[in-house]
Amino acid sequence: MIQIYRDYETLSLAAANLFLEKARRNVDQFGRFSVVLSGGSTPKRMLEILAQPSYVDRLPWRNTHVFWGDERCVPQDDARSNVLMARHTLLDHVPVPEENVHPLRCEKDPAGAASRYEAILKEFFMDRLPSFDLVWLGLGTNGHTASLFPGTPVVEEQTRWAAEVFIEEQDMWRVTLTLPVLNQAETVVFLVSGQKKAEILQQVMEDPSTAAHFPAQLVQPKSGNLVWMVDRTAAAELEQRAT
Ligand code: 6PG
Repeated sequence: MIQIYRDYETLSLAAANLFLEKARRNVDQFGRFSVVLSGGSTPKRMLEILAQPSYVDRLPWRNTHVFWGDERCVPQDDARSNVLMARHTLLDHVPVPEENVHPLRCEKDPAGAASRYEAILKEFFMDRLPSFDLVWLGLGTNGHTASLFPGTPVVEEQTRWAAEVFIEEQDMWRVTLTLPVLNQAETVVFLVSGQKKAEILQQVMEDPSTAAHFPAQLVQPKSGNLVWMVDRTAAAELEQRAT
């Protein structure tokens, strides 16, 4: 399902409302809510909105558990850190218990960091394959999502739940959740904004010849929902304009 919004602000507001609705529903029904945050810049405004007073008091933070879909292996205070970005925009401003925040840390020893994150997942999901309630993902202009970059071994990983990957073009190690985990989620939402994503979005969404050429196309939740929330500039090259 694809939802097209007038602009980045409207997109972010709709995303914040979805986050809030999923959190409330899951806590009401199951007593807890597990959410995976993506990195990059697109989710920032959504996270800032969730930190506003009109949202903070309505979101069940005490029963909300926060995870990350990927992290760059940089120092914790490095501006490129996805964990730091989420803390600055949201988590430092809301009453989420620290024990509910499960940061992916991989400044050193990427392989060890991946194993440690997998152990955190095993503990939270009691050794069962993680099934997150809500996973947020972004889309890179090369069709990557999380840190599943085209042509990297992690895209093929079917056993490990978290894995390290070296991104040549960025000269950077990263750790990412793998497709078996992403595809086990109850709801996966791609949040895509901006003109520079128009071409890749069209290729990922509409061009069958590229099917499964891009890691983002391999995110196909087994029984969960897949939602694309995009703004008009990102949707500029899509033929069918969704309502
Ligand atoms: C990361 C993200 C990555 C991101 C896309 C889109 O760590 O870089 O997890 O998958 O979501 O690259 O990034 P932007 O939102 O900045 O365009």
